[in-house]
Amino acid sequence: MQNSVRDLAFADDFITAQLVENPCDYKVEDAVVVNLSPTPMITGDKHPAIIPPWKSTWLKGGVIKSGERAALIKVRKTTNLGGCMFRGWDWLGNRIRSFPRDTPLYISAQDSLGLISTDAKYFTNERAQAEDLQDFELKINLWWSPGDTDCFIHNEHPFLEVHTQIHGVGRMQKFHENDEATLYEDMPMSIGFSHDPFCRVTGPNEWTYPWHRYYADTDCVWLAVELHPITVS
Ligand SMILES: [Fe+2]
Repeated sequence: MQNSVRDLAFADDFITAQLVENPCDYKVEDAVVVNLSPTPMITGDKHPAIIPPWKSTWLKGGVIKSGERAALIKVRKTTNLGGCMFRGWDWLGNRIRSFPRDTPLYISAQDSLGLISTDAKYFTNERAQAEDLQDFELKINLWWSPGDTDCFIHNEHPFLEVHTQIHGVGRMQKFHENDEATLYEDMPMSIGFSHDPFCRVTGPNEWTYPWHRYYADTDCVWLAVELHPITVS
Protein backbone atom coordinates (compact mmCIF):
# COMPACT_ATOMS: atom_id res chain seq x y z
CA MET A 1 0.00 0.00 0.00
CA GLN A 2 1.32 3.46 -0.88
CA ASN A 3 1.86 6.23 1.66
CA SER A 4 1.13 4.09 4.68
CA VAL A 5 2.12 6.23 7.69
CA ARG A 6 2.68 5.40 11.33
CA ASP A 7 4.39 7.08 14.27
CA LEU A 8 7.80 5.72 15.23
CA ALA A 9 8.33 4.45 18.78
CA PHE A 10 10.24 7.59 19.79
CA ALA A 11 7.71 10.15 18.51
CA ASP A 12 6.55 12.52 21.25
CA ASP A 13 5.54 16.14 21.86
CA PHE A 14 9.12 17.27 21.17
CA ILE A 15 10.01 15.19 18.14
CA THR A 16 7.83 14.36 15.16
CA ALA A 17 8.85 10.94 13.85
CA GLN A 18 6.93 9.01 11.25
CA LEU A 19 7.52 6.01 9.07
CA VAL A 20 6.15 6.18 5.53
CA GLU A 21 5.98 2.87 3.67
CA ASN A 22 6.03 3.04 -0.14
CA PRO A 23 5.96 6.85 -0.32
CA CYS A 24 4.52 8.07 -3.62
CA ASP A 25 4.23 11.80 -4.44
CA TYR A 26 4.46 12.34 -0.69
CA LYS A 27 4.80 16.01 0.27
CA VAL A 28 7.14 16.78 3.16
CA GLU A 29 6.61 20.15 4.83
CA ASP A 30 9.73 20.20 6.98
CA ALA A 31 11.59 17.07 8.09
CA VAL A 32 14.78 15.11 7.75
CA VAL A 33 13.94 12.30 5.33
CA VAL A 34 15.92 9.09 5.75
CA ASN A 35 15.87 6.37 3.11
CA LEU A 36 15.54 3.25 5.26
CA SER A 37 15.84 0.81 2.40
CA PRO A 38 18.50 -0.81 0.22
CA THR A 39 17.11 0.85 -2.94
CA PRO A 40 17.27 4.50 -4.10
CA MET A 41 14.50 6.92 -3.17
CA ILE A 42 13.43 9.52 -5.74
CA THR A 43 12.76 13.11 -4.65
CA GLY A 44 11.89 16.29 -6.48
CA ASP A 45 9.58 17.14 -9.32
CA LYS A 46 11.06 19.03 -12.27
CA HIS A 47 14.56 18.02 -11.21
CA PRO A 48 14.25 14.55 -9.75
CA ALA A 49 17.12 13.42 -7.57
CA ILE A 50 17.89 10.34 -5.54
CA ILE A 51 18.51 9.68 -1.90
CA PRO A 52 20.78 6.61 -2.06
CA PRO A 53 20.10 3.66 0.27
CA TRP A 54 20.55 4.58 3.97
CA LYS A 55 21.17 8.25 3.11
CA SER A 56 19.07 11.29 3.87
CA THR A 57 18.20 14.89 3.14
CA TRP A 58 16.21 17.73 4.65
CA LEU A 59 13.01 18.44 2.71
CA LYS A 60 11.17 21.72 3.26
CA GLY A 61 8.10 21.65 1.06
CA GLY A 62 9.70 18.97 -1.10
CA VAL A 63 8.25 15.73 -2.35
CA ILE A 64 9.20 12.07 -2.25
CA LYS A 65 8.28 10.77 -5.70
CA SER A 66 8.87 7.13 -4.88
CA GLY A 67 10.71 4.85 -2.51
CA GLU A 68 10.43 1.80 -0.30
CA ARG A 69 10.50 3.23 3.20
CA ALA A 70 11.21 6.68 4.63
CA ALA A 71 11.58 8.01 8.15
CA LEU A 72 10.50 11.65 8.54
CA ILE A 73 11.93 13.19 11.70
CA LYS A 74 11.87 16.74 13.03
CA VAL A 75 12.58 18.31 16.40
CA ARG A 76 9.66 20.70 16.84
CA LYS A 77 10.20 21.89 20.41
CA THR A 78 13.63 22.66 21.84
CA THR A 79 12.65 24.05 25.24
CA ASN A 80 13.33 21.21 27.71
CA LEU A 81 14.27 18.86 24.85
CA GLY A 82 17.18 17.85 27.10
CA GLY A 83 14.75 16.49 29.70
CA CYS A 84 14.33 13.38 27.55
CA MET A 85 15.48 11.22 30.49
CA PHE A 86 12.27 12.22 32.26
CA ARG A 87 10.23 11.08 29.26
CA GLY A 88 11.51 7.53 29.16
CA TRP A 89 14.87 7.84 27.43
CA ASP A 90 17.57 5.76 29.11
CA TRP A 91 21.08 6.78 30.15
CA LEU A 92 23.50 4.46 28.31
CA GLY A 93 25.35 3.87 31.59
CA ASN A 94 22.32 1.91 32.79
CA ARG A 95 22.94 -0.58 29.98
CA ILE A 96 26.73 -0.75 29.80
CA ARG A 97 28.56 -1.20 33.08
CA SER A 98 31.86 0.10 31.68
CA PHE A 99 30.28 3.25 30.23
CA PRO A 100 31.81 6.40 31.79
CA ARG A 101 29.74 7.40 34.81
CA ASP A 102 29.77 11.11 33.94
CA THR A 103 28.83 11.05 30.23
CA PRO A 104 25.36 12.41 29.39
CA LEU A 105 24.37 10.14 26.48
CA TYR A 106 20.72 9.08 26.34
CA ILE A 107 18.89 6.60 24.11
CA SER A 108 15.24 6.69 23.06
CA ALA A 109 12.89 3.78 22.61
CA GLN A 110 13.95 1.57 19.71
CA ASP A 111 11.64 0.79 16.82
CA SER A 112 11.90 -2.46 14.86
CA LEU A 113 10.95 -2.01 11.24
CA GLY A 114 11.02 -5.70 10.38
CA LEU A 115 13.23 -7.55 7.94
CA ILE A 116 15.15 -6.15 5.00
CA SER A 117 17.24 -8.07 2.53
CA THR A 118 20.63 -6.79 1.44
CA ASP A 119 24.27 -7.70 0.93
CA ALA A 120 26.53 -6.72 3.84
CA LYS A 121 29.37 -5.86 1.44
CA TYR A 122 27.01 -3.75 -0.68
CA PHE A 123 25.95 -1.94 2.48
CA THR A 124 29.59 -1.17 3.33
CA ASN A 125 30.41 -0.09 -0.24
CA GLU A 126 32.83 -3.00 -0.64
CA ARG A 127 30.70 -4.18 -3.59
CA ALA A 128 29.08 -2.05 -6.30
CA GLN A 129 26.08 -4.40 -6.61
CA ALA A 130 24.19 -6.51 -4.10
CA GLU A 131 25.12 -10.16 -4.70
CA ASP A 132 25.05 -12.11 -1.47
CA LEU A 133 21.60 -11.27 -0.08
CA GLN A 134 20.73 -12.00 3.52
CA ASP A 135 18.02 -10.89 5.93
CA PHE A 136 18.60 -8.29 8.60
CA GLU A 137 16.25 -6.91 11.22
CA LEU A 138 16.17 -3.15 10.83
CA LYS A 139 16.12 -1.25 14.13
CA ILE A 140 16.25 2.49 14.69
CA ASN A 141 16.44 4.78 17.70
CA LEU A 142 17.42 8.32 18.57
CA TRP A 143 20.28 9.53 20.75
CA TRP A 144 20.52 12.79 22.68
CA SER A 145 23.53 14.53 24.22
CA PRO A 146 24.12 18.12 25.33
CA GLY A 147 26.82 20.20 23.64
CA ASP A 148 30.51 19.27 24.12
CA THR A 149 29.81 15.62 24.92
CA ASP A 150 32.33 12.88 24.13
CA CYS A 151 29.96 9.99 23.37
CA PHE A 152 32.61 7.34 24.08
CA ILE A 153 35.18 5.69 21.81
CA HIS A 154 34.24 2.11 20.92
CA ASN A 155 34.87 -0.42 18.13
CA GLU A 156 32.43 -3.28 18.60
CA HIS A 157 28.89 -3.76 17.33
CA PRO A 158 26.98 -6.99 16.58
CA PHE A 159 25.22 -5.09 13.76
CA LEU A 160 25.88 -2.81 10.79
CA GLU A 161 25.32 0.83 11.73
CA VAL A 162 25.02 4.31 10.27
CA HIS A 163 23.73 7.59 11.74
CA THR A 164 21.75 10.60 10.56
CA GLN A 165 21.90 14.04 12.18
CA ILE A 166 18.44 15.27 13.25
CA HIS A 167 19.15 18.31 15.43
CA GLY A 168 22.25 20.34 16.24
CA VAL A 169 25.79 19.87 14.99
CA GLY A 170 28.10 16.99 15.81
CA ARG A 171 30.87 14.88 14.38
CA MET A 172 31.54 11.22 13.76
CA GLN A 173 35.20 10.59 14.49
CA LYS A 174 37.62 7.72 13.82
CA PHE A 175 40.79 6.87 15.78
CA HIS A 176 43.80 4.60 15.29
CA GLU A 177 43.63 3.53 18.94
CA ASN A 178 41.24 3.81 21.86
CA ASP A 179 42.65 7.26 22.52
CA GLU A 180 41.29 10.59 21.29
CA ALA A 181 44.85 11.80 20.58
CA THR A 182 44.99 9.26 17.69
CA LEU A 183 42.14 10.87 15.70
CA TYR A 184 42.49 10.37 11.96
CA GLU A 185 39.06 11.33 10.54
CA ASP A 186 36.55 13.93 11.70
CA MET A 187 33.24 13.95 9.79
CA PRO A 188 30.97 16.95 10.37
CA MET A 189 27.35 15.96 10.94
CA SER A 190 24.77 18.68 10.26
CA ILE A 191 20.99 18.34 10.07
CA GLY A 192 19.92 15.95 7.32
CA PHE A 193 23.36 14.35 6.84
CA SER A 194 24.12 10.63 7.10
CA HIS A 195 27.69 9.38 7.23
CA ASP A 196 28.92 6.46 5.11
CA PRO A 197 29.16 3.05 6.77
CA PHE A 198 32.64 2.59 8.19
CA CYS A 199 32.83 -1.06 9.10
CA ARG A 200 34.40 -3.72 6.87
CA VAL A 201 32.96 -7.19 6.38
CA THR A 202 35.40 -9.92 7.46
CA GLY A 203 33.20 -13.02 7.13
CA PRO A 204 29.62 -14.28 7.41
CA ASN A 205 27.99 -11.97 9.95
CA GLU A 206 31.44 -10.69 10.93
CA TRP A 207 32.74 -7.18 10.57
CA THR A 208 35.30 -4.90 12.12
CA TYR A 209 34.86 -1.26 13.06
CA PRO A 210 37.57 1.32 13.51
CA TRP A 211 37.71 2.93 16.94
CA HIS A 212 35.02 5.59 16.63
CA ARG A 213 32.82 7.95 18.56
CA TYR A 214 30.11 10.53 18.10
CA TYR A 215 31.02 13.96 19.44
CA ALA A 216 28.19 16.44 20.12
CA ASP A 217 29.38 20.01 19.46
CA THR A 218 25.96 21.47 20.34
CA ASP A 219 22.89 19.88 21.88
CA CYS A 220 22.29 17.04 19.43
CA VAL A 221 19.70 14.51 18.41
CA TRP A 222 20.84 11.89 15.94
CA LEU A 223 19.35 8.72 14.53
CA ALA A 224 20.97 5.30 14.75
CA VAL A 225 20.13 2.87 11.95
CA GLU A 226 21.10 -0.71 12.78
CA LEU A 227 20.97 -3.82 10.59
CA HIS A 228 20.97 -6.89 12.83
CA PRO A 229 21.81 -10.16 11.11
CA ILE A 230 19.20 -12.90 11.40
CA THR A 231 21.02 -16.07 12.38
CA VAL A 232 19.30 -19.31 11.51
CA SER A 233 19.86 -21.97 14.19
FE1 LIG B 1 29.28 2.91 16.96
